[in-house]
Amino acid sequence: MNTSLKGKDYISTQDWSNDEIEIALETSADLKEKFKNDIPHRYLADKTIFLFFFDKSTRTRNSFEAGITQLGGHAHFIEASTSQVAHGESPKDTGIILSSYGHGIAIRHDLLPGEGNSYMREVAQHADKPVLNMQCDIDHPCQTLADLMTIRETFGNDLRGRKIAVSWAYAPSYAKPMSVPQGLIMLMTRFGMNVTLAHPPEYKLMDEPMQFAKENAEKSGAKFEVVSTMEEAFEGADIVYPKSWGIESLFHKPEEALKISKKYNHWICDEKLMQQAKRDSIYMHCLPADRGHEVTDAVIDGPHSVVYQEAENRLHTAKALMALTM
Ligand code: CP
Repeated sequence: MNTSLKGKDYISTQDWSNDEIEIALETSADLKEKFKNDIPHRYLADKTIFLFFFDKSTRTRNSFEAGITQLGGHAHFIEASTSQVAHGESPKDTGIILSSYGHGIAIRHDLLPGEGNSYMREVAQHADKPVLNMQCDIDHPCQTLADLMTIRETFGNDLRGRKIAVSWAYAPSYAKPMSVPQGLIMLMTRFGMNVTLAHPPEYKLMDEPMQFAKENAEKSGAKFEVVSTMEEAFEGADIVYPKSWGIESLFHKPEEALKISKKYNHWICDEKLMQQAKRDSIYMHCLPADRGHEVTDAVIDGPHSVVYQEAENRLHTAKALMALTM
């Protein structure tokens, strides 16, 4: 196991160099191979990770829990609402104490813009063990690493010139965090992909990730553009990633947000729209998807969809991140 990343936090992909992301991807591929072939890989025997959740989860929680077990360690699942955080315990105290009990802290705190990323950075400042971001308000670096792994498995490692459409889509279920589209525009521009972002006017992403995406694209020689329709974004795309997200200023006002989102309930990924993309294009979604709203069953269950491969890669990438840093 490569030891160069031991002790390093993983709060945003921006915090890791391209070489470090490459190490994470190589390790993920190796761990996937070992998992598929039943080859033991107990790199974290007897180690403990604390999984701290301020929000719900299926994939993230279970990929980390199953992953640490397969690596020979153990996870403690902590709901923020049943911990002393609910009584106001500080991120400093939480970080110092949990890091004195185990070997890593992973946090999901994604629902309120301006809170999650700064919370985990404060925990990390005081913890002397690595802090891993299981999704915050700004980035979902575990998801986007699995997405990059999935894209490489499909198109190979050289992704320069490939077009990815990151588009808003309608969902009535809840105001989904902004971190997945923001994470995608930051990471994919670094690896030479041409990123086209599409959203209705109210659904602008945060300034900081937009700025990073522009700078990353300039450095890698990729294009980064923003358009106003799904059709424009999908035109000639190799990868389409339509999903819903909320309005930055309205996460505290869900009813107002839902009213606005209903104006755009025609922003759905269907078979007609998929015809705008390349014939061998792939459809991606971090899941959970609002079937019948963000995407039709025919697309998510159809020949372009890689959503289950993408979800499976959450396991291999979570294991790589733990094995490399803890
Ligand atoms: N994609 C993702 O993070 O899934 P969960 O919300 O189920 O963890």
